[in-house]
Parts: sequence; C-alpha cells; structure tokens
Amino acid sequence: MQLLRVSFQAALIAAAGSVASASSFKNDYYDYIVVGGGPSGIITAERFVEAGKKVLLLERGHGPTVTTGANDTLSWSNELTPIDLPGMSANVGALPEWKRYMCTDTPGMAACVLGGGTTVNYMVFIHPSDHDFDHNSNWPTGWKWKDVKPAAERLYQRNAGTTQPSADGKRYDQGAYKVLSNFFNRLGWKSVDSIEEPDKKHKVYTYPAWNIEDHVRAGPVRTYLPLVQKNESFDLHMGVKVLRVVREGSKVTGVEVQTGSNETEIVTVGHNGRVVLSAGALSTPRLLFNSGIGPAKQIEMAQSSGISVPAKQDWIQLPVGVGLMDHPIFTMLIQTNATFGVPDYDSILNGSDTADIELYKQGSGLLTQGKHRMIFFSSNTFSNHTRYYQGSCAPTKNGVVEIKVYMTHGLTSHGVLGLDSKQNTVIEKSPYMQTSDDRVAARAFVQGLVKDIQAPGSGLTLVKNTNITAILKDLQPGTHYASTAKMGVDDGRKNGTSVVDTNTKVYGTDNLFIVDGSIHPDLSTGNIQATIMVVAEAAAAKILAYN
Ligand SMILES: Cc1cc2nc3c(=O)[nH]c(=O)nc-3n(C[C@H](O)[C@H](O)[C@H](O)COP(=O)(O)OP(=O)(O)OC[C@H]3O[C@@H](n4cnc5c(N)ncnc54)[C@H](O)[C@@H]3O)c2cc1C
Ligand SMILES: *[C@@H]1O[C@H](CO)[C@@H](O)[C@H](O)[C@H]1NC(C)=O
Ligand SMILES: *[C@@H]1O[C@H](CO)[C@@H](O)[C@H](O)[C@H]1NC(C)=O
Ligand SMILES: *[C@@H]1O[C@H](CO)[C@@H](O)[C@H](O)[C@H]1NC(C)=O
Ligand SMILES: *[C@@H]1O[C@H](CO)[C@@H](O)[C@H](O)[C@H]1NC(C)=O
Ligand SMILES: *[C@@H]1O[C@H](CO)[C@@H](O)[C@H](O)[C@H]1NC(C)=O
Ligand SMILES: *[C@@H]1O[C@H](CO)[C@@H](O)[C@H](O)[C@H]1NC(C)=O
Ligand SMILES: *[C@@H]1O[C@H](CO)[C@@H](O)[C@H](O)[C@H]1NC(C)=O
Ligand SMILES: *[C@@H]1O[C@H](CO)[C@@H](O)[C@H](O)[C@H]1NC(C)=O
Repeated sequence: MQLLRVSFQAALIAAAGSVASASSFKNDYYDYIVVGGGPSGIITAERFVEAGKKVLLLERGHGPTVTTGANDTLSWSNELTPIDLPGMSANVGALPEWKRYMCTDTPGMAACVLGGGTTVNYMVFIHPSDHDFDHNSNWPTGWKWKDVKPAAERLYQRNAGTTQPSADGKRYDQGAYKVLSNFFNRLGWKSVDSIEEPDKKHKVYTYPAWNIEDHVRAGPVRTYLPLVQKNESFDLHMGVKVLRVVREGSKVTGVEVQTGSNETEIVTVGHNGRVVLSAGALSTPRLLFNSGIGPAKQIEMAQSSGISVPAKQDWIQLPVGVGLMDHPIFTMLIQTNATFGVPDYDSILNGSDTADIELYKQGSGLLTQGKHRMIFFSSNTFSNHTRYYQGSCAPTKNGVVEIKVYMTHGLTSHGVLGLDSKQNTVIEKSPYMQTSDDRVAARAFVQGLVKDIQAPGSGLTLVKNTNITAILKDLQPGTHYASTAKMGVDDGRKNGTSVVDTNTKVYGTDNLFIVDGSIHPDLSTGNIQATIMVVAEAAAAKILAYN
C-alpha cells in the first residue's frame, strides 16, 4: 500500500461534502487508470466500466455542466451554462469560462476541463470518410475503414451529431448559406448531407453538422459519462493533474499525481492493472517524457524541470513528439451583397433577447445553432496523391462571411513537439507546409477558389487578404493536433516511426496504452473530433481484447 498524503485543505473540502477535489485514492485496486477526461478518456473509461472493469478517471480540470459541478449558469436558466448553449459557441473565446478552461502549458489551443476540446470547441462534427482510413492513409492493418466502421456505428448510436438542431425543422439566419450555395451551384458543386453521405468530399457543400443533442452542446460529457457516473466500479477525480507514469522497467505500477499546488502522491494500479493516457496530442507527450519515454533530449529536459524520471537504463527511446500533424487554415473574408450578421451575445446572456430565448425554450431557433452556416469540401490531385480541403463558413459582420479553408487528409507535412524547462510542451518544428507538394497543392486550391470568387458576376468580393500570396501567408493553426505518439507496426525503438502498436500499447511497455489524438497516424478530411471519438471506441475494444 502506498501512503496517502492528504492535504489539510483537501480534507476540509471533503468533510464539507464538496465534489471539488480529490482527497484520497484507492490504491492497488483499479484495473485501469485513465489519464485525462477529454472525449477519448471518457469514452475509453466508460467502455471499460461497461466491460466490468474497475476504473479510475483522472482529470486535471473541473466539470463544465451543472451535473458535473459547474455553477456559472445563465441568467435565464439554472440548468444551462453559456458553454451548453449552441448559439453562444461562436463567441466562446469571449466568455470568462474560456480563460478558466484553456490549458496554459501547451503551444497550441487545448482545453484543460472535463470534456477537453469538446467543451470549448465550435461543435463542427464531421463524420469521417472511408478514404480517411484507406486511400493515401497511414492507418495500419487492423485500422482500415472496414475495421473501425463498427466503432463508428457504436459512437453514432450515442453521439450522432446533427445538421438540423432546431425542433421546428427550420433553419435560421440563412443569408450566408443562400449566397454561398448560389455561388457553388453556378460552379457545378453538389449539395450533400455530410452526416448521411460522409464519403462525398469533392466539390460538395453541406449544412454544418454539429455536435448538438436536445438543443445543447453534446459530446461524451453528456452522451457517455452519465451512463456510468454512479457505477460502483467507476471513480472520477477532477482537479487532479497527473505528472508521470510510475514504472518498474517495462511494467507500469501507477501514476504520480498533483492534487494541490504542491501536494503529490502516487496512485497504484491493481494486480495486472493498466494505465491509459488520454491527455490529448499536446499533453500526452509531456506525460511520456516525464516517464522516461521519448527522445533522450526531451527526457533530460523533463528531468531538469524537477520531475523524478526513471534511471537512464530504464529509458525507452521512442520518437514521441516527432510526427506532429495539424490542419493548416487559410482564411478568406468575403463581402457579399446579402444581409446577415452575428447575434447580439450580450442580450442573449443578459436575457433581453426575449424572442430568441423564448423560441429556444421550445427547442427551436437561432440559439439551437452553432457558429457556421455552411461547410464545403473538395480535393486536388498531384502525382496521383489526393489532398482534401474543407471550407468552414461563418458570418462575421454585416454581409461579410469568413471562410476558413483547411488543408486536410492527404497532406504530408509533419512537425516536432518537445518540452521546455517549465514543463510546457513546445513546437520545435512547425507541422505546416513542410513539403513542397503540400505548398504546391495548397496554392493551387486557393488559386482556384480566388479565381472563382473574383470572376465577374460572382457577387463576392475578397476583403482583407485580397490576393493568393496574402491568403497563404496568413496561415492559422487548425487546432486538430495529432500524431505525436503515432500508431504503427514499425517499432520506434528499432528506427521505426511508431510509439504505439496496433493495440495502442506503448512499445517497450507491458501495460501502458494511449488513446487520444496522439496516436492518429493521419489526419481526417474534416474537423477531427468525430474521428477522435471513433478511434477511442475502436481502441477501447482493442485494449479490452488484448491479454
Ligand atoms: C478551441 C478549439 C476549437 C476546436 N473546434 C473543433 C470543432 O469545431 N470540431 C472538431 O471536430 N474539433 C474541434 N477541435 C478539436 C477537438 O476538440 C480535439 O481534437 C479533441 O477534443 C481532442 O480530443 P482528445 O481526447 O485527444 O484530447 P483533449 O480534448 O485535449 O482532452 C484531453 C483531456 O486530458 C486532460 N489532461 C491533460 N493533461 C492532463 C494531466 N496531466 N492530468 C490529468 N488530466 C489531463 C485535459 O484537461 C483534457 O480534459 C477544437 C479544439 C479546440 C481547442
Ligand atoms: C456497473 O456496471 C456493471 C458492468 O456493466 C453492471 O453490471 C452493474 O450493474 C453496474 N452498476 C450500477 C449500479 O449501475
Ligand atoms: C462556483 O464554483 C467556483 C469554482 O468552481 C467556486 O469558486 C465558487 O465559490 C462557486 N460559487 C458558488 C456561488 O457556489
Ligand atoms: C513545495 O514543496 C517543496 C518540498 O516538498 C518545497 O521545497 C517547496 O518550496 C514547496 N513549494 C511551494 C510553492 O510551496
Ligand atoms: C443587455 O445587453 C444589451 C446589449 O448590450 C443592452 O442593450 C441591454 O441594455 C442589456 N440589458 C440588461 C437588462 O442589462
Ligand atoms: C494511382 O492511384 C490509384 C489508387 O491508389 C491506383 O489504383 C493507380 O494505380 C495509381 N496510378 C499510378 C499511375 O500510379
Ligand atoms: C447580389 O449578387 C448576386 C450574385 O451573387 C446577384 O445575382 C444579385 O442580383 C445581387 N443582388 C443585388 C441586390 O445586387
Ligand atoms: C497582396 O495583398 C497584401 C495584403 O492584402 C498586400 O500587402 C500585397 O501588396 C498584395 N500583393 C500583390 C502582389 O498584390
Ligand atoms: C533508419 O531509418 C532511416 C530512414 O528510414 C534509414 O535511412 C536508416 O538507414 C535507418 N538506420 C538503421 C540503422 O536502420
């Protein structure tokens, strides 16, 4: 048994009956300790409990919904927070919750709150295409579309997403959609439903598909967690930051956790227990480096930052952080001749927008919708290699629509994620536009779109960045980070590129697994969260079947 060190303050909170903080853990007990309560960690933990396992889920942040402990409710509802309300999602970055929920130790945006990215994101929910796992894809044997399709179906049964969130069957604020659909129709593109027809990704447009259910932000916090939250085999501790995995050689025995500003303790797994890291593509590498797993340079950095890394002979040298991927975004602002704008967020928050709020209380209207009004997809092919593009279109100010063009599946650029002496993960090499083929393809795609926008009679005018060079130069992160602990059959200890095997087990360990964006060896054609959840469903099944 490990000795528990319970802080006086934590004991007081526990005595007061608060759910806020961890005060004690069951040691030598759990079959699984899952680190990180984002979408991957919740889905994985939930499936383990369903399989009869004893599970501890550790999350460094707190709960964002009333049922998970939040108290920042709307002035006109004591059940909903602004985070829950789809109509506020476009403005999430301006909410006070944003500051509390965003991680401060990652080099790109990530959320340190229960639900992870799904708690703060724009809710765009793109079902993966079969080609994401098959054609031009690095997913290994056992992870092709035919293999993961049943996992996708399990996910959609619980968390399907929708292109029609309003109960009255109407769509609101369609000015931008109307202008853009006319534009694409004239170009010969086709209207599809990205949920019903996920494989159609060339010259198509769709109403946005959103992660919304029953008129609120959905995601595993709502669609998986409640199924096991009261189960005696499941413990969720929030406000607990895991520092590292504790291991004896190849065998993981537990995790070291930080429960207060300066209190740490070790939680041990049960007999034959396992640890699953689900801290996200920008944080799981930190946990690996701190555990003596990764390039020697990063492990040395972890050591110099004060972490008790294992003795050097126990280091497992794997290419963690090498292979970082993300979708780059190229932004186009377009002036149209239509009338549309953005909602008045202040009056939604303070309750004075009674028309929209009354409609919302009936499950309908503008506030049931997310930020975007249209999503389009296309592709281009060079040297027999196809790259896909997504355009996410959202109104900004009056009559102006912002198109974020993502370069997606098929891109071939990789970067490097590392660590600094203060325990921040850092980007050592940018993941964007590293290959000349990516640069040629991106330019060609943007050029084509600009030509069509600037054609006489389009009714559209580029504003801000008005030429191709300026658009390409203004590159923004897609915030769909992946591939920092890549899955594959080429063992990274033997000069290969992979950190986990096809059971998602870390090479060189007996019982350490990873389930989150880190293990994806490739990017999806659309925003990544649906793919993250599909892969978590598939990974949970692989881990349970592995013995
Ligand atoms: C601002 C933003 C907007 C986005 N918009 C969209 C969108 O519209 N559509 C879409 O599909 N995708 C979007 N994404 C991406 C998507 O949300 C992420 O890809 C997805 O959430 C990743 O899931 P994950 O399980 O891999 O990790 P994460 O969601 O990052 O979850 C990791 C979890 O682990 C916890 N954690 C981390 N370190 C520790 C530790 N040491 N100890 C304990 N817990 C820890 C974190 O608090 C978090 O809860 C967006 C992301 C962001 C940040
Ligand atoms: C907990 O989960 C197990 C496995 O699914 C199940 O058999 C049990 O009935 C659940 N208990 C409760 C209280 O839901
Ligand atoms: C609301 O929650 C925060 C943190 O979760 C806490 O600090 C605050 O005291 C709570 N407020 C009320 C009124 O309970
Ligand atoms: C944390 O604890 C260590 C010893 O355990 C002590 O040296 C250090 O000063 C403490 N830091 C803070 C901020 O209290
Ligand atoms: C609510 O916000 C709107 C927009 O800022 C403002 O005009 C209105 O006066 C506010 N109402 C209240 C009750 O605060
Ligand atoms: C191009 O790719 C397709 C699909 O992978 C393949 O069937 C075909 O043989 C390739 N053609 C050439 C010329 O490489
Ligand atoms: C707006 O532009 C469209 C072309 O996109 C054109 O058909 C229409 O006549 C224009 N409307 C006005 C009011 O100028
Ligand atoms: C492209 O646009 C940028 C910014 O809008 C401008 O500074 C630059 O001069 C333009 N270049 C050309 C070649 O037109
Ligand atoms: C390691 O891999 C690289 C690239 O894949 C190759 O060039 C090199 O020869 C390999 N080295 C060994 C020792 O196998």
